[in-house]
Amino acid sequence: MSKKILGAVIALLVTTATALAAPAKVKIGFLVKQPEEPWFQSEWKGAEKAAASYGFDVVKLGVTDGEKTLAAIDNLTAQGAKGFIICTPDVRLGPAIVAKSKGANLKVIAVDDQFLSANGKPMTAVPYLGMSASKIGAAAGEGIAGELKARGWVPAEVGVCVITFDQLDTIRQRTDGAVGALTAAGVPANRVLRTAQKTQDVPGSFDAATILFTQHPEIKRWLICGGNDTAVLGAVRASEQRGFAAADVIGVGINGTDCIDELRKSKPTGFFGTIRVSALGEGFTTSERMFKWVTAGTMPALDTRTTGIFMTRANLEQVLKDDQ
Ligand code: GLA
Repeated sequence: MSKKILGAVIALLVTTATALAAPAKVKIGFLVKQPEEPWFQSEWKGAEKAAASYGFDVVKLGVTDGEKTLAAIDNLTAQGAKGFIICTPDVRLGPAIVAKSKGANLKVIAVDDQFLSANGKPMTAVPYLGMSASKIGAAAGEGIAGELKARGWVPAEVGVCVITFDQLDTIRQRTDGAVGALTAAGVPANRVLRTAQKTQDVPGSFDAATILFTQHPEIKRWLICGGNDTAVLGAVRASEQRGFAAADVIGVGINGTDCIDELRKSKPTGFFGTIRVSALGEGFTTSERMFKWVTAGTMPALDTRTTGIFMTRANLEQVLKDDQ
């Protein structure tokens, strides 16, 4: 055998042996209902950060409906994943997700949207991490109330446009929290006007707000709240469409991820601020917990609620810098 061939054979043997010896990296899935949204992209970033520091692989999948969710679980099973974190497209899929995962020996952590059982109650046995929804909603309401005072508006003269999405508990708790804070600040209950978004995105809330603005031509100044940034952004766009000036609108969102371009615009809009919650931190923590669960058997906390901070054009860059 020539030296050259011998060398090649040895190289091949070494490579094969290394491949056989190297333990396969743990695989963890991270499934989200709206992969195009900055909130979920930030969660994925957090998951990747955890993957890099612990040395596992994260499989990112968009699951926009029930069929895609169940297919994604099959996909993870085929790839030999050990578990996954999910923000489900529909909380009522909880029992189906749990059953399928059990069958495939996959561990599950729910993030953002808590699973509901068949009787409509939260599935508290599935580890969950999400926002302290009522408190964060109240913080958004307080942010709006503070600015209402700063502008010297009369609470009894404004209208509150509440973009609701009651089929999702975390969103309902947020909008209820915001309304509670606004009425506590002196806005009469009959000035609080709820309008439901059909879809959880800008067009969905644009349509919901347009209906409300059309029904109430007597209202000249609007306060806007909703379950997340896109809910408030859509309503702010609708207010502009109806001819309201930014100076006559105070909207405060929730998330702090989907409104960064908005808050960086050279001129202020009706979108005054947001309650910024760390999506990056949520992605990191849930992935870290899943890794410890599948590798060391450490059961994750069953219920963790995150908090947020009020972010406006005034502190935007600093807040973003502190959460990277
Ligand atoms: C829900 C919303 C998202 C985000 C998360 C945060 O899933 O749809 O926009 O607010 O909650 O937990």
